[in-house]
Formats: sequence, structure tokens, C-alpha cells
Amino acid sequence: MNKRVDPINLAVLHTRTRHDSGPKHVTGTAEYIDDMAEPAGTMHAYLGLSTRAHAEILAMDFSAVRGAPGVIGVLTADDIPGENDVSPSHKHDEPIFAEGRVQFWGQPIFAVVAETRDAARRAAQLAKIEYRDLDWLPDVRAAQQAGGKLVTEPLKLERGDVAAGLASAPRRAKGAITIGGQDHFYLEGQIAYAVPGEDEDVTVYASTQHPSEVQLMVAQVLGIRHNAVTITLRRMGGGFGGKETQGNLFAAVAAIAAKKWNRACKIRPDRDDDMQATGKRHDFVVDYDVGYDETGKILAVDAVYGARGGFSSDLTGPVTDRALFHCDNAYWYPAVRARSEPLYTNTVSNTAFRGFGGPQGIMACERWIEDIAYALGKDPLDIRKANFYGVHENNVTPYHQTVGDNIVHRIVDELEASSDYQARRDAIIAFNRTSRVLKKGISLTPVKFGISFTATWYNQAGALVHVYKDGSIHLNHGGTEMGQGLNIKVAQVVADAFGVNLDTVKIMPTSTGKVPNTSATAASSGSDLNGMAAWDACEQIKSRLIAHAAQLYQSDEADCHWVQGGLQVGREFVAFAELVASAYLNRIQLSAAGFYKTPKIHWDRATGKGHPFYYFAYGASVSEVTIDTLTGEYTVDRVDILHDVGKSLNPAIDQGQIEGGFVQGMGWLTTEELVWDAKGQLRTHAPSTYKIPLASDVPPVFNVQIAEWSVNPEPTIGRSKAVGEPPFMLAISVVEALGMAVASVAEYRVAPQLDTPVTPERVLMGVERMKEARG
Ligand code: MTE
Ligand code: MOS
Repeated sequence: MNKRVDPINLAVLHTRTRHDSGPKHVTGTAEYIDDMAEPAGTMHAYLGLSTRAHAEILAMDFSAVRGAPGVIGVLTADDIPGENDVSPSHKHDEPIFAEGRVQFWGQPIFAVVAETRDAARRAAQLAKIEYRDLDWLPDVRAAQQAGGKLVTEPLKLERGDVAAGLASAPRRAKGAITIGGQDHFYLEGQIAYAVPGEDEDVTVYASTQHPSEVQLMVAQVLGIRHNAVTITLRRMGGGFGGKETQGNLFAAVAAIAAKKWNRACKIRPDRDDDMQATGKRHDFVVDYDVGYDETGKILAVDAVYGARGGFSSDLTGPVTDRALFHCDNAYWYPAVRARSEPLYTNTVSNTAFRGFGGPQGIMACERWIEDIAYALGKDPLDIRKANFYGVHENNVTPYHQTVGDNIVHRIVDELEASSDYQARRDAIIAFNRTSRVLKKGISLTPVKFGISFTATWYNQAGALVHVYKDGSIHLNHGGTEMGQGLNIKVAQVVADAFGVNLDTVKIMPTSTGKVPNTSATAASSGSDLNGMAAWDACEQIKSRLIAHAAQLYQSDEADCHWVQGGLQVGREFVAFAELVASAYLNRIQLSAAGFYKTPKIHWDRATGKGHPFYYFAYGASVSEVTIDTLTGEYTVDRVDILHDVGKSLNPAIDQGQIEGGFVQGMGWLTTEELVWDAKGQLRTHAPSTYKIPLASDVPPVFNVQIAEWSVNPEPTIGRSKAVGEPPFMLAISVVEALGMAVASVAEYRVAPQLDTPVTPERVLMGVERMKEARG
């Protein structure tokens, strides 16, 4: 473990190798769970959802449901053999089926099991549920006003003397920003398919980022041990954090039905139900008070991060923690106090979503940077630069970790030059002086994102590598493929380790039966963790093969070297397949389980101190926009990105992650708006009302560069860095560019202070505020 990784086969590692499933994705031959052949007798389940935000359940009448054509039965809380809970947190506060009380509109109450999905879906509408309405809490402000009931323990990060820093500051920026939530809108919705086995056994094909947790949940609800449950999946059609915990309930329902009737059972909600019944990105309201001086240097920050947790804890604790961990983005605060408020609300329980609270933390931070810039009449980029973490000093974070790998200055300087930022900004200011209706804006924002799970024990992974007699290789690792290219990266690592061609390595579906006790594929750490675990397995097999070869050729182990295609033993070259065949005949074990745990990290939540992140990933973006001040409509005209992925394992995949992350972030910050009505029902529960970015929303000029000079100073796999989440936050420059265009209406004298998502309506309202300010 943690040995240096010396790439021997530069033809595979660090190359632009296409996604292993790419051709299958585009030809429709990639198998998703709903594509699998169903065994005879497969049943279909459909959920019955609450139509109240908060209510006592007085009576439930399922007689019409049971009498409907094709119905096999109804499942309620009474049918759960074990515990009625699928919460990932220690609170055990998330029932599969509501008992006695519903806590949000869309909460599952029961499931219908029928011969066909259509029959189950129709029958689910026939239940008669009697409710008695209770008072309910819709959002952050309502929850705070009602006393601020929390779903989980809050966190405080503190460093330096905040009171003194604020009191002595010549200037203050005080305010609040509302940051909207986001639906995951994975193309493949939630789905699970359970096949009963003998005794207590059950196998569940589940679209999940966290098979080991689904295994635990299924065991818990059935009241059986983990070893009776196997969770497996080939791939997801997108997860984005929405399948870190939100698949638990579906797998549990399918498993309960499968064991109850001893028939396979599939559950796949339609898009509207998926959007109403499963958690989303947390919306936040951040109240801040920031002291700074006349040069724009921040002296002290005091901020409270209110988050809409929903009705249960789910991942709200770690998500709000990560928001605080990113309250600094790339900036040094001499004094800081950040507090989280993970609030209870009567809405769906919010969950992981790309960035995991980090985007909200960074968005708030960039808001006060902008406030300072407008108050001082400066380019916000100058304020950013004035506050960057130092390289050798001024580099301690609010959680007392020293930033030891700071490359933000180089990233920003290079992007500023390559995007021609200064000249374009001057041109835009000149344009805005004469253009009456159309106004332009430009912004450069940086990202610094901490890599590692903050739950330290999650930073471990396993792999299982088999080499067969013919020299072909089976690769099993504990990570899951959701389109991000984890499988191809780990396969590249294995091919590189053995010096074989990529097509020698077969990537197997993820299964809890192959690699146990895995962590969620999340926190962008999939390739860091599983790449290393697979590499460890390969090294074990390789050292056995070397010992065998040395003996066979009466050579020294020190004279054996892996080269492309096989092993060089002194002057002899042995092809890999030949070596393997001979090892087999000599009874050498050709299979190994690998393991990895991230070194260096520790975190003490009680004191708010530690070294929670192994390293940081950096990036920066420049966005240019044009707004129409009469309608609020706008276009994103050009985007330039420079992003740090260390020494890329696969620049083609990484570029895709950067582009996709940016566009998804732009959707979050501009068009994706979640609207609940006065009764607490989510009204934006389909693509007709919830607008994700389309291919046509990709900026017409989109220059994406990987910082090719970057090498991870830590000995990660191939010296690469995680890439899944950090680029998401590059989209913040779109918000600030829109802000500049809006602020131009009042000659940049007033901070635009746009809440997100910055929809055309919000731009128009911002313009109106500017017109009033201008007088
Ligand atoms: N890319 C695609 N295509 N689909 C996804 O669902 N999820 C993102 C990111 N990129 C996602 C994606 C999220 S939320 C995370 S945490 C990482 O991928 C997880 O994968 P990794 O750790 O292997 O990067
Ligand atoms: Mo990603 S939000 O960590 O699944």
C-alpha cells in the first residue's frame, strides 16, 4: 500500500482512452437494470405517495387497490419483517412506509405489487387515505422562525478572534444569499430488481452508488444477516449523488416483495414520482457578516448556513459540514466563524448532489467577495487575488488544516492571460456604456475543493483481480460506474500494472459478493480509492509471478522487470500469457484481493480541527454573458476553463467530467428551479416544468483546458487528482458575470446580490432594482 506508482506502460495510463461503454451507450446496447431479461413470474411494485405535507394518518382503505385487475397484494409498514427504516444515518429516522404520520408531500405510504407495472401503477391511485392536517414547515426561513428544529447535529468551525476582527474592520459586508436546490435528473431513474434465492437469500440488482449500504438496508428491513444479501449492478444511467442513499428504499421494497411472494420483483417509479419522493440538493440561506479593509482584504467572517434538510437526517449532516469546509473557497480568513443549521422541514429529505454542500459554501463565499468589490468600486478579480491563500503563509483553513499544495495563483494567472480577461473586460465596460438594451458581463472565479470523505473510515477500498490460465484478466473493484469513467480508469491501471493491452482486462459488474464493505462511489474519490486497491491486487500477483520466473530461469528477482507485453527476466523475455500458463502449472495463486486506505487524514468534529482532506483540486473559469434588460433573458456567450486534475489518468474522460460538471453547475445556478406550492407539493416534477440544460445550452465558445503541468504532490494513483465534483463549481462565474451585466445598469455602484438560480425573472428583477438605485 501507498507505494510509488511507476507507470510502465505509457500506452495505456495517462492517455485519452475512450469510455469502455461509449459505443454501447450510443448504440443502445449498454445494459441497464430495466434492460435485463426478467425471469418468469416477475412482479412489479409501485409506490403510493402522501398527498399532504404534514398530517396524521387517520385511516387507510386498500380494498379498491386489492380488487384492481392484476394486483397481487399491498405492502405497508406492517409487512416489513425487520426494521421499517432505510436511513443512512445513526438516527434511524427514515421509514420506508409512513406509520401514523406523513412528513412531506410525496412520502411513500404503501406499495402495490401486481403482475404488470401498469396494473400496479393504476391500482396505487385507488387507495383511500384519511388525513388530519398538521402545521408544517416549508423552508429554511420558516424553520428558523419556528425555532430552528434540526435534523442532525450542527457544526461550528472557528479560528481566530472573530468579534475583534469584525469590530476593528473599517468596512462590513452584511447580508443573506438564498441558494436554490437541484434535482438530480439522472437519465435512468431509480430502479431495483430483487430475485429471491433459497433460505434467506436475496439478490438485488440496484441502481446505486453504494451497494454495501443497500446490502445493509435490505438485511435490516428483512431482519437477516448481511451475508444473505447480494447487491449487484453493471452501471447506472447517472447518479450525481442521487443514488448514494436514495436507492435504499426501492431496493428494500423490491426485496420485501420478492421474499414475501417468493417471486422476483422490480420497482421503477415514473419520473414525476421519482422527483417528488426522492431527495435533492439542499437549498441554503446563508446569513453573513464580513469585515474588510479599504484594500478589499477580508479581516473576519461570521456566517450561518441554514439548509433545508427535509423530514429526516439522511446525509444532511455531512452535506452541511462540507458547506462549512468550503466557506473559504480559495481565500484566507484571518478570523472566521461558520455555523451550520441543518434544519427540519416538511419536504423531501435532501441528500448528496455533486459537490455535496461544497457548491453552496463556495457560492456564499463568492457573494461576499462580490459585495466587497462593488462597495470599493473594484474588479472582483482584484478582491479575489487580494485574498487568496498564501503558499507559505496565511494558509490555515477554518478547520485548521494547512493548505500545502496551493496552485490557485498559477491557475488564475494562466487563465486570465489565455482568456484575454482584462482586454475583454475593458471592451465589455465600453460596450455597456453605449448599449441601451443589451448589457454584458464577465467574471473569473476560482475553485479549491477538498478531496476525501470527511467520515474518515469511508476512505478505504477493495478490489479483486483474477488472472485466468489464458492470461485474460477479471477486474472487480468496489466502485460503481455511473458514466464518470471509473471503470475505464481502473482498467487502465490494471493493464498498465501487467503491461498488457486494455482488451485483456474485463471489467466486471460491481457486486458485494466480490468486494465487501465498500464505501459509496462518491466524494469524487472513486478512482483514487479503487485505482489504488486494484493496483495493490496487481502488485501481489506480480510479485508471485516474479518469484516464479526467477526460479524458473534461475535468475535474480532484481533482474526481473515488467515491460510492455510481459516480463523481462535477465536476457529472457516471457510473454504475459506464457508466464501465467507456467505459473498455473506450478501452482501459483493467480488471484488477489487488494486494499487501500487514504493516508494522512484525520478529523475531530467536536473541536472542528483536523486534516480532513488528503489534497485539494483547483480550477478557474471565465464566463461572459449578455442580458436583455427588457426581458431578463440572457445568453452565456463564452466560457474558458483551466482545471487541475493532477497528472490525468485519462484526459478524454477528465475533459468530459469538466465539461459536464460545468454545464450541470450552470443548470443549478441558472435554470433549474424547484417550486413548492402553498400546500407543500413540489410542482416542478417533470421536464415540462423543471428545466435542465440542453445540448443547445452549452456555451458556443467553450475552451476547456486541463492544467497539464499539474502533478499531485501526494502519491495518488499515477499522481492524478479527483475530477468528479470540483468542476461543478466553475459555473459560479456565470452567476457573477450575470451580476456584472445587471450592475452595469447602475454604473456598477450597487452590488447585484442575485439569489440562485439566476433565472431570467431574477435578472429582470435585478435590473429593476438597479434602475431604482440609479434614480
Ligand atoms: N459523471 C457522470 N457522467 N455521471 C454521474 O452520475 N456523478 C458525479 C461525478 N461525475 C456523475 C459524474 C459525482 S456526484 C461524483 S461524487 C463522482 O462523479 C463519482 O465518481 P468518481 O468518484 O469515480 O469520480
Ligand atoms: Mo457525489 S455527490 O459525492 O455522489
